[in-house]
Parts: sequence; C-alpha cells; structure tokens
Amino acid sequence: MYHKKPTELPLIKKAIFIKSFLKFKDYVDQGFPEIVFLGRSNVGKSSLINSLLQKKQLAKTSNTPGRTQTINIFTVNDRWTFIDLPGFGYAKASKSTQHKWHKLIEPYLSKSNRISLLCYLFDIRRDPTQEDRDIFNWLLSYNLPLTLILTKMDKVSKNELIKRNKAIASAFSIHPDDCLGYSSLKKKGIAELWTVIQEVVE
Ligand code: GTP
Ligand code: MG
Repeated sequence: MYHKKPTELPLIKKAIFIKSFLKFKDYVDQGFPEIVFLGRSNVGKSSLINSLLQKKQLAKTSNTPGRTQTINIFTVNDRWTFIDLPGFGYAKASKSTQHKWHKLIEPYLSKSNRISLLCYLFDIRRDPTQEDRDIFNWLLSYNLPLTLILTKMDKVSKNELIKRNKAIASAFSIHPDDCLGYSSLKKKGIAELWTVIQEVVE
C-alpha cells in the first residue's frame, strides 16, 4: 500500500459540474489539468469523486451498476478538471455494450491533451480478470501517469487488506506499495490521493 506522508488537503472552494458528453466533438477543454477516473462499473468512481471534493451527490452514484452513462466534466477551484467516466463490464452488459464503452472512452483518451493523471479503480475484494488486466495494459499504453486505487477498503479486515493488496498488485505486475487504498465510506485515502494529484499537476 502507498506509504507517502500526505500533504495538506486543499480547501475545496468551488466544485462544479460543467457538462456531459458522448462524442468527442462535444468535449470542452476547461483549460485545467485533467484527473480521470476509470474502472469497472460499480467500483466506486463517482463516490470517490464526491468524497475527494466533500460533496454528497455532485457525481451521481447508485447501487445499480451502470449509473454513469456519459463522460462527465467537473471543475475544481478553477484549477483542476475531474473526469467521471462510465464503468465497463457489468455482468448484464453484452459484448456490444463493452465495445461501445471502448468506443466512447478511446477518442477522449487519445484526443485530450490535458490528461495529467489516470486513476484506475479496482475493488479490493475482487481478483483481476483478463479483461481487467487488458484494460490496465491498454491504459499504460497511453504513457500517462497512472495510479491504481483499491476501493471499498472498509469491506475487508486489516489482515485481508495486506493479502488483497499483494494479490492484486501481483496480477497487474506492479509493486504493492504503488497501490493506493481508498474508502469513500470511511473517508480513507483522501489525503494520499490529493498528494498524488498535486504531485502530477505541480
Ligand atoms: P458506475 O457509474 O455504474 O460505473 O459506478 P461507479 O464506479 O461510479 O460507482 P458508484 O460510486 O456509483 O458506487 C457504486 C456502489 O458502491 C454504491 O452503492 C456505493 O455506495 C458503493 N460504494 C462506493 N464507494 C464505496 C466505499 O468506499 N465503501 C463501500 N462499502 N461502498 C462503496
Ligand atoms: Mg459512476
């Protein structure tokens, strides 16, 4: 798990929803570095954004996988842009839905020249599948700063946490210390993630 001493939390003075889009022609560059949140449907992307920004439902969350269907742009303190993406691969999705996900995300990832950080979220209770690894490797191919965030940390015991951290890191071929543990529910990992964001932006 990530050990770096966190810096001070930024004061969130302004966090606003700008717009949603599907086609890249509707993307609007806000002029700030973009922090992008990706991962499987229901992994906790929208909840993580809300907890980072101390806002209850700025990014819409839900118990039902597939809540976020569009690419959503938020700006924070006129300094950062946060991008909330729809999740991939929920059980009911057909192959064509998964193809659609790729087709929706790919133009944004390849055409935006503002991306400062890709945050790849992964549920700490799960074992990475081939699809999870393929997507991770696909993201690596963009040569952008990428951080692996293990979500829903509150769902496992301390002992399990260490085991899960090792198993997941090994499946993605990264060092266990390069995974950042997170819990939106228990507000854990917020300062650490802000440290990472501030490092890539400054
Ligand atoms: P999609 O938009 O469907 O791709 O999902 P998402 O990744 O944005 O997930 P979302 O934030 O909507 O959360 C999905 C479910 O997980 C909700 O029921 C949340 O309450 C729950 N959840 C999110 N974060 C946490 C967490 O840290 N701990 C626990 N226990 N539950 C969480
Ligand atoms: Mg969402």
